Order: sequence, then C-alpha cells, then structure tokens
Amino acid sequence: MVLTQDELKRIAAYKAVDFVESGMVLGLGTGSTAKHAVARIGELLRQGKLSNIVGIPTSKKTQEQALSLGIPLSDLDAHPVIDLSIDGADEVDPHLNLVKGRGGSLLREKMIEGASKKFVVIVDETKMVKHIGGSKLALPVEVVPFCWKFTAEKLREVMEGYGCEAKLRLGGEEGKAFVTDNGNYIVDMYLEKDMGDLGAVSDAILRLPGVVEHGMFLDMASTVIVAGELGVKIKNK
Ligand code: A5P
Repeated sequence: MVLTQDELKRIAAYKAVDFVESGMVLGLGTGSTAKHAVARIGELLRQGKLSNIVGIPTSKKTQEQALSLGIPLSDLDAHPVIDLSIDGADEVDPHLNLVKGRGGSLLREKMIEGASKKFVVIVDETKMVKHIGGSKLALPVEVVPFCWKFTAEKLREVMEGYGCEAKLRLGGEEGKAFVTDNGNYIVDMYLEKDMGDLGAVSDAILRLPGVVEHGMFLDMASTVIVAGELGVKIKNK
C-alpha cells in the first residue's frame, strides 16, 4: 500500500506524541506535519489520556489550532524551560542539523525549541538530505523590514561563495511581502553549493545588522522521527 506524504507526516507526528507525558510543558510546532501532533495532543487530552499539559505555540496559526482543541497555552516568559518540543523541518542532515522556516515561523520556533530539554523533529523521508541548504529549496532568513534590500544585498555578499540568490518572500496581501508573526520579512537564499562549515556560516549571517534569525537549526534536535514507505526510523543525537 502506498502512503501519501500527509499520511507519513501523521505517522511521524503520532509517534512523537508517544513521548508526551501528563504534566509536561510542550513546545507546539508549526506546519503541515506539526499540526498532526497538535491535533493528537488535543485528542488525548479530550479522551483524558493526558492531563495538565501546557502548550507553548511557535506561531499564531498553531496558537489558533491549539485553542480550538482546548489545549491550555502559555508562553516562554512564564515557562522559560520546556520539557519537550515537537516540530517538523524542511531538511534534516545526517548529523540532525535542520533547515526550518519555509512556513515563516523560524524565530519563535528557534526560541522555543532552543529552550527545550528535548526537541523531537518529525519528518517524512523526503526531508532527509546529505547537506542542508544545498538543495534547490531555500535557506530562509528573517530580516527587519527597514531597508530590507540593503540587508538582502549584504546576505548575498556574505553567501557569494555558495552561489547565492537572495529573494524577498512574497505571499502577503496583494502580492506584497510575506510578513512574519513578528512583523518582519523573510529573505530566501537559494544556494548553488553546499555550505561547508555551518557554524561559521551561521555566525556570519547573524553578524549582519538587519538580520533577526536564520533557519539553520544546528545541534538542536535530540531526536528525529522519519516516516517512510518501509516504516518509521528514530534517530537520536
Ligand atoms: C515553519 O516555519 C517551519 O519551520 C516548519 O516547521 C517546516 O517548514 C516544516 O513544515 P512542514 O511540516 O509543513 O513541511
């Protein structure tokens, strides 16, 4: 039986929710995979199989979904240490480094997942890559709207060695710029070559004034659950 990509996402998500215990503070991820995990947590709460859960949503969209399911919510100010976060990813390399943010929620995701004792990533097998950022998909960078063209040009210069094209993400009202939950823009960097030293590239991007955060999540995932046609694989750090 051939499973659809969405079914594989749901399988990975449900497996991750097996790690959830009553009384936990949970980081709730964003995207088409994470939404299955949030739905499952809501279902288990409703059935009384989980209790005393506090959810910390990584986006306004996830906040809406969690509220509609009756999941009690809070924030990082009230809960600076999170027991477990569950979220999807756009790319995962063999060292469990990730690219995230094609849904635009990278900043809140990085804050919340970085504050988590355990961060479980859920993907279907199409997300597994040899090198993150080197595929045809983009590496997202959240930038302040003020003179974003200046920042995009600086990003292109910093990433020139990797054959970078930096494009403002569109998708806002009337074809305008996509605006993040934090009121910022996203510049998507399309790279022709693999980045070598990911830590050095990360530092160079973050040093640029105007950059808020980028979508490389280095050394953050504790576990990656990969659902594929042949079953589920669990990779631990
Ligand atoms: C949201 O900004 C992203 O980081 C998502 O977690 C990531 O894009 C994975 O999304 P899907 O599960 O929809 O592929």
